[in-house]
Amino acid sequence: METLGVVMNGVTGRMGYRQHLVRSILAINEQGGVELSGGRRVRLRPVLVGRSAAKLEAIAARHGIPDWTTDLGAALADDRTTVYFDAQTTNARVAAVTRAIEAGKHVYVEKPTAETLADALALARAAREAGVKNGVVADKLFLPGLLKLRRLIDGGFFGRILSVRGEFGYWVFEGDWQAAQRPSWNYRAEDGGGIALDMFPHWAYVLENLFGGIEAVTARAVTHIEERVDEHGRPYKVTADDAAYAIFELAGGVIAQINSSWAVRVNRDELVEFQVDGTHGSAVAGLRRCRVQHRSATPMPVWNPDLPVTEPFRDQWQEVPDNAEFGNGFKTQWEMFVRHVVDDAPFPYDLASGARGVQLAELGLRSSAEGVRVEVPPITSGVGA
Ligand SMILES: NC(=O)c1ccc[n+]([C@@H]2O[C@H](COP(=O)([O-])OP(=O)(O)OC[C@H]3O[C@@H](n4cnc5c(N)ncnc54)[C@H](O)[C@@H]3O)[C@@H](O)[C@H]2O)c1
Repeated sequence: METLGVVMNGVTGRMGYRQHLVRSILAINEQGGVELSGGRRVRLRPVLVGRSAAKLEAIAARHGIPDWTTDLGAALADDRTTVYFDAQTTNARVAAVTRAIEAGKHVYVEKPTAETLADALALARAAREAGVKNGVVADKLFLPGLLKLRRLIDGGFFGRILSVRGEFGYWVFEGDWQAAQRPSWNYRAEDGGGIALDMFPHWAYVLENLFGGIEAVTARAVTHIEERVDEHGRPYKVTADDAAYAIFELAGGVIAQINSSWAVRVNRDELVEFQVDGTHGSAVAGLRRCRVQHRSATPMPVWNPDLPVTEPFRDQWQEVPDNAEFGNGFKTQWEMFVRHVVDDAPFPYDLASGARGVQLAELGLRSSAEGVRVEVPPITSGVGA
């Protein structure tokens, strides 16, 4: 069986360890590798890279992984490694991925691909010029709820889609009387934090893949909680936005409104939900579930504040069945990227699409700072902007 060497940087972090190493790479090997065309299979050989030898050694021992190093250069110089993967904090991404491209590795990276549009475009162009395969994580598209939404769109359920309303967020504890459940760098702009930079890249690929390219953004990003307490119990000043309220105008006239907040308490069924309204029907999709209401089953509410609510509105929606087994989305996308590298299978989520995500964050923040609507110039896979 073929083996593909994958340098994995950032595996001591939340995403790098759990979603990418354990639930993707190791899970793929447990199932016997990635199936390629003609029934061939390829196994993955992870080479763990990071700054802390102790942490890497512990992870390697826990999972029986022979190869780890604190020397990124050495891992990249090894011609038995073919792919470089990066799940470091965002501000460490560009330098490391650039080195990997220069070493001729195919690169697959977490989002956002960079902190600025200029850097994200430079990275996409560098990969293109070097002729290396490149990709960015677009995990939300592989969530069961969004796969069901895709199925409804493909089946013509909605008629003409009018609007999308997304609600993302939950209360992230300040860290004083209860520990914060997210790393503190997320709340410091100087360390690559901020909810617009974190979440708008997700909304960019979700919207463009399901509903249409984004043509304009109007956003207001704010810092609701001004002081938090870090992993060491030290108070720090929050310098990044922790909520962003945005309107995205899409090609074809669809209006998408998405609220993203780490300072909101959940009164929803899931941590993210999208309501899609179309002329023939509507849907509410979350991470896993998706419910629909067809035009033929739409009630006729009449506004009368003098009377109690007469309709059980939530009960009037119908559950979309699974009709399939949904695997881990990160793993599914890893399998796609491996087939892209080894078999030249298509992989639409390239660094140019990653740059569109960073662009949306940058233009959203500009819209907020200047109090204006900002048009979004197209960025193509040839990375012309
Ligand atoms: N796809 C998703 O749904 C999703 C979700 C969360 C985070 N992310 C992205 O994944 C990346 C990592 O996020 P996380 O939540 O796992 O963070 P984390 O803080 O848990 O992990 C960060 C990793 O980077 C390393 N690191 C930290 N500072 C560094 C520095 N200065 N130089 C080099 N390495 C450094 C850490 O050792 C760790 O391995 C971020 O870019 C984030 O935007 C993606």
